[in-house]
Amino acid sequence: MTDIEHQVTWTDTEGRGRTALWHSENAAVPPRRIVLADDRIKADAAYHIAAEGTAMLWCGDFHNARQLLSAMKRRIDRRRRRPAEDSAIAFNQYRQAQAFRAKVLGSLLVAVDEGAVLSLRRSPDIRTACAEAGCPLDRPFVCSLTALLGMTGAHEWRRKGVKVPALGGARIHPHYGVFSPVRGEYVDLVAQAPLPDACSVQPVAFDIGTGTGVLATVLARRGMTEVVATDLNPRALACAQENVERLGLTAHVRVAEADLFPARRRAALVVCNPPWLPAKPTSTLESAVYDPGSRMLREFLRRLPGHLEPGGEGWLILSDLAEHLGLRTRDDLLDLFAAAGLEVVGRLDARPHHPKADDPADPLHAARSREVTSLWRLAVKAR
Ligand SMILES: C[S@@+](CC[C@H](N)C(=O)[O-])C[C@H]1O[C@@H](n2cnc3c(N)ncnc32)[C@H](O)[C@@H]1O
Repeated sequence: MTDIEHQVTWTDTEGRGRTALWHSENAAVPPRRIVLADDRIKADAAYHIAAEGTAMLWCGDFHNARQLLSAMKRRIDRRRRRPAEDSAIAFNQYRQAQAFRAKVLGSLLVAVDEGAVLSLRRSPDIRTACAEAGCPLDRPFVCSLTALLGMTGAHEWRRKGVKVPALGGARIHPHYGVFSPVRGEYVDLVAQAPLPDACSVQPVAFDIGTGTGVLATVLARRGMTEVVATDLNPRALACAQENVERLGLTAHVRVAEADLFPARRRAALVVCNPPWLPAKPTSTLESAVYDPGSRMLREFLRRLPGHLEPGGEGWLILSDLAEHLGLRTRDDLLDLFAAAGLEVVGRLDARPHHPKADDPADPLHAARSREVTSLWRLAVKAR
């Protein structure tokens, strides 16, 4: 097996050399060695082959491949060590374990024919999911089965949507690669926080880093007549636009590509939910969760005063998980507010109600069980 740029090559069941494009969302380097695998392979053997760095191109039944993946997951979970007492060390262990898991599970590959057709027994129709995830449709490609299942899972979420109680139960439809509002507690905070008086004078708001557009639509439903929803991710921009249209809010919400703030504009209310953990993302899909060096958080706070109308407020949504993991202190955060010339005029807290918060088997349980999500109401400090 050789890797020429983003191509992979292998020898097929007839002994012929084959080449195809390598498709990886997280720009993972193509596997160096690929062997064929089918329904006869045992999970232990597959696990060892993958752990040693060899990829397996699946030629068997599609459902059997899914079962093999589950069996490999169980073997990875069995190796799980007790998390360290120190939360920062536990977080490092967790990320290393996640990387190992991604490497092993990502070693089971599938070859997708031109037109996004999977020629395995009992294959599902993957065309729409592949198109939505931006896979090439005009030529064959190879990707990991986990990546493919991520695409089909994302397609289902997009189709069904996520019910948002703060929108009266209306649904937000996340696109592939866009942060999904499955954790509702932060959306509820934006629905409940008292609007600053400045909003009754000028009901203009910004939603910085809008993702699916969920917070922008909540603000519009709360009476903001003009909401500018920004993002840099083209998938997020398309997704937010679609959700705004579905909810009939195009007269009030404008989706705009911008690095944080719309140029030279001020608003009575500016909302931002940056990624919550200051660490390096390992894939583009993780970049809504990990913010290296807290770049987005810092820049948002630094530039916020220049974009607030007199009497306006900035609402920062942030969980304190980073504090429980030893990645940031409360004083670090308060220092960032002070350095930007901002003061805290109020704070609303919520306990997360996602399943991981109550799962003692989760390696980060100690930190997650104490997690609080806050909406910080910030105003420009009076001189
Ligand atoms: C944690 S997600 C929040 C999404 C959405 N606001 C929500 O609360 O569900 C952060 C979003 O910020 C966007 N983002 C990151 N850096 C940005 C920047 N410099 N300018 C605008 N948006 C950015 C990401 O693409 C992502 O959609």
